[in-house]
Amino acid sequence: RSRVRRGRLPIVVIGSGVAGMATALAAAPAPVRLLCRAKDGSGSASALAQGGIAAALDEGDGVEAHVRDTLEAGARHNDVAAVRWLCKAAPATVAWLEAQGVAFDHGPDGCLQFGREGGHGAFRIVHAGGDATGAALVHALRAKVQAAPHVQWRRGVDAEALLLRDGCVAGVRVRDARGRQEVIEAAAVVLATGGIGALYAHTSNPPGADGAGLALAMAAGAATRDLEFVQFHPTALAVDGHSLPLLTEALRGAGAGLVDAAGEPLMRGLHSLGDLAPRDVVARRVWQARQQGGGAWLDAMSIQGDWSIRFPTVLKACLAHGLDPRREPLPITPVAHFHMGGVATGLDGCSSLSGLYAVGEVACNGVHGANRLASNSLLEAVAGGRRLGAALSVATPVAMQGTHRWSERGASLPREYLPALRELLWRAAGPVREGMALRDAWRVCTAAAAAGWQMRLAKALLRAMRRRRRSLGAHCREDRGCPM
Ligand code: SIN
Repeated sequence: RSRVRRGRLPIVVIGSGVAGMATALAAAPAPVRLLCRAKDGSGSASALAQGGIAAALDEGDGVEAHVRDTLEAGARHNDVAAVRWLCKAAPATVAWLEAQGVAFDHGPDGCLQFGREGGHGAFRIVHAGGDATGAALVHALRAKVQAAPHVQWRRGVDAEALLLRDGCVAGVRVRDARGRQEVIEAAAVVLATGGIGALYAHTSNPPGADGAGLALAMAAGAATRDLEFVQFHPTALAVDGHSLPLLTEALRGAGAGLVDAAGEPLMRGLHSLGDLAPRDVVARRVWQARQQGGGAWLDAMSIQGDWSIRFPTVLKACLAHGLDPRREPLPITPVAHFHMGGVATGLDGCSSLSGLYAVGEVACNGVHGANRLASNSLLEAVAGGRRLGAALSVATPVAMQGTHRWSERGASLPREYLPALRELLWRAAGPVREGMALRDAWRVCTAAAAAGWQMRLAKALLRAMRRRRRSLGAHCREDRGCPM
């Protein structure tokens, strides 16, 4: 039974991770159709987020210090007003999440516990379930979404085309696993589809983080921004596979260190924050150590306390691969983790196309600059979603007449071609880049552009990487003075 009220066009939110769910909840009482590709509603990167949410809540910390660290990590490519908004919104975002049922970890004194991660000058990361913060958020928000009378959650559908009426986005066409199509006319279409990590050979993201929403927006002509900035997380467990287990930066905040084969500190003399330097700096060092053949490890054996309470996710993943973080250093590799670039939006989530909005990782409003500060992503997803949902809840949709057309994302790349594309991006568009390799990869994608939308998206990413000739933040051009 549809719970969407008749007679009023719904807001269509594509993607049911934290950004999509926060948007849907905040849009009440406007009717919302929340769409999700996975049949069981899983598959968002949000659920895998470990570290937590950055918020200047501790005594002695402050919003300005959070702003400073965000700008510093972002290589000052950030939009300062956006950063100030995000950092200011953080305490209220944590309070709202608590009101939704998220149980953040508290110490024996009853106060919130704060972790620390790369680039932060203070302990300001609140977390839940030790290192299971994303899963805790997804669990709480999903319960709210399922109980919300204004939200209809539709699983197992892929949005493959946008309906444009007089140049405005006015709906979507979705397809289910059996190939059945459905047209949903909408008061607004919100992309909350996450990032592009799964386009790389190694990623912390789930396989569905393939840029499908970004490709949909680009096909319709929406403006994009900063596509070249892809963040690599320095410490994933170096095991075989595509989606690799993350070893949260909070481990380093709790005393773990990066070492080489001889047990010598990898970050010695490289940055004043040492092992807790911003993520781009650490990722390059780990990449370099692996390229040189020596390898890199995370030594977390000094971490005190019960791992099954402090870092249950990491412990479980390591044990599943026959490694015990309490007794041995863990082999690590950088992995594609977060896309700073995306659909160009303002802080209000508006894209360049009327009727189309973007929120969370798929959007680029300038808040993260050239390299996102750790634990600012769940924060942005929730704060941005709440802001956008609230704005849409009171917007009066214009009844659009006139000519309409479909903007198609186009066919997917045949499955068997995906590994080659992922390997191509990993080698040419990874943590360390070089002009000729970018050009060659771009040529390959250009020649194969008709093969599927993933190729066209990769071509656009490579084009942006070629255009930015100087190194900045996570975009490191080895041929143009990359700080290693
Ligand atoms: C981590 O826990 O290391 C990742 C957190 C983030 O991506 O901000």
